[in-house]
Amino acid sequence: MDSHLVDVNISKSFGKMDVLRDIKFDVKLNEFLVIVGPTGCGKTTLANILSGIETSTVGSVTMRGEKINPHKHNISLVFQEPSCIPWYTMLQDVTSGLCIKGVDSKTADARGREVIKLVGLEGYEDFFPRQISGGMKQRVAIARAYATNPDLLIMDEPFGHLDAQTRYLMQIEIMRIWEQEKKTVVFITNNIEEAVYLASRILVLTKLPATIKAEYPITFPRPRELTDPAFLELRAEITTQCEIVE
Ligand SMILES: Nc1ncnc2c1ncn2[C@@H]1O[C@H](COP(=O)(O)OP(=O)(O)O)[C@@H](O)[C@H]1O
Ligand SMILES: [Mg+2]
Repeated sequence: MDSHLVDVNISKSFGKMDVLRDIKFDVKLNEFLVIVGPTGCGKTTLANILSGIETSTVGSVTMRGEKINPHKHNISLVFQEPSCIPWYTMLQDVTSGLCIKGVDSKTADARGREVIKLVGLEGYEDFFPRQISGGMKQRVAIARAYATNPDLLIMDEPFGHLDAQTRYLMQIEIMRIWEQEKKTVVFITNNIEEAVYLASRILVLTKLPATIKAEYPITFPRPRELTDPAFLELRAEITTQCEIVE
């Protein structure tokens, strides 16, 4: 079986500013690829190009050999800021992507309830955004992304604004969901501990213009123990590779 899903080979500049330089990597089917890099290095730009909502200056992103196209390929993107529509209930919000795709309301509702349950929010289907916490809104964003059953799920610092405790709980949750649904995930973060906790493989980006500095397959069994000596050693090694001051 061909385990390749996505091939990336791109450079990107905004005017005279080089942001991404010779970024070349692949995404394998069902892997949890984490891309880690310092703030401002071009991670969101990369996420936008991967999802097809931004174009590269040079090169391309292909899925199963075909140039990526958000209208054709089923790609979901979760942003750092949870963006719930204030007047939508949770169920309406989570099913909005399905409705756009023309799925009938009965099927959309059933799938909506299923993914709300998947992210642990069963019973909150009729709640509005003002009635739920930041952590719950981020779960809604994840449920919305899963609802369409995407071939590729891209998460751009999805837990960046959460407090440490909620962030840790969300990391456990996202692993549980990934192990259950086995989607292909590209997860972007500037947090090395989070990267080592979650990843099947890590790509380390340099600061601007971003290039790929190192690649680490992560083979520790899951669930991972943050205080395990081997975990701490790898975390320290990646920290020295990555120009992030923790
Ligand atoms: N649309 C844009 N036009 C011009 N510059 C941009 C645009 N988007 C991002 N940038 C610049 O590209 C660089 C990388 O930004 P970004 O991809 O958001 O980094 P990160 O997500 O790693 O913090 C920054 O210097 C930012 O100001
Ligand atoms: Mg960003």
